Amino acid sequence: MEAVRGDITEQHVDAVVNAANSSLLGGGGVDGAIHRKGGPEILSECRDLRAAHLGKGLPTGQAVATTAGRLPARWVIHTVGPVWSATEDRSALLASCYSESLRVAAGLGAETVAFPAISTGVFGWPIEDGARIAVETVGAAETAVAYVRFVLFDEPALTAFTAALEQPGRA
Ligand code: APR
Repeated sequence: MEAVRGDITEQHVDAVVNAANSSLLGGGGVDGAIHRKGGPEILSECRDLRAAHLGKGLPTGQAVATTAGRLPARWVIHTVGPVWSATEDRSALLASCYSESLRVAAGLGAETVAFPAISTGVFGWPIEDGARIAVETVGAAETAVAYVRFVLFDEPALTAFTAALEQPGRA
């Protein structure tokens, strides 16, 4: 596992994880960047997924894969993070985004995966806690995925993930 500063759409890995919403029809942030740079094929496959077996949308904490279109990756794995709540502990749902994305990636045969800091933007999750959950979940996962890169868009996020990776027992 490593944490780098960068843009998720520029990562040369097998699978890039998208911080999507349940509609799978795009949005801002990571979602907007991936669809904008990846091109219409991604949205087209998202629509097919919706029509096929995701009529009500992709539930929070789950993950599905599409082509990566024009991105320098083979797949995009779309996952829906929980919106931060000060009254309800949704940590397990956020952890599920990481573990389910790894499960889908391994199922595809992806060996390298790039994650953004899921839920820590529009969905309001505090970056330190988001980083802790990400690193703990990926660190504990029994997965065939050989390499995970956390791609952070700003310095505070990079600092938070770097600190989380330096915790005892982290790879
Ligand atoms: N590359 C890497 N990280 C990025 C990029 C990018 N191009 N753009 C934004 N980020 C960072 C943000 O700074 C934040 O730390 O990704 C993290 C996640 O932010 P969001 O993209 O807002 O995702 P999230 O908080 O999970 O909210 C998802 O936002 O865009 C909509 O459709 C999306 O409804 C969904 C919601």
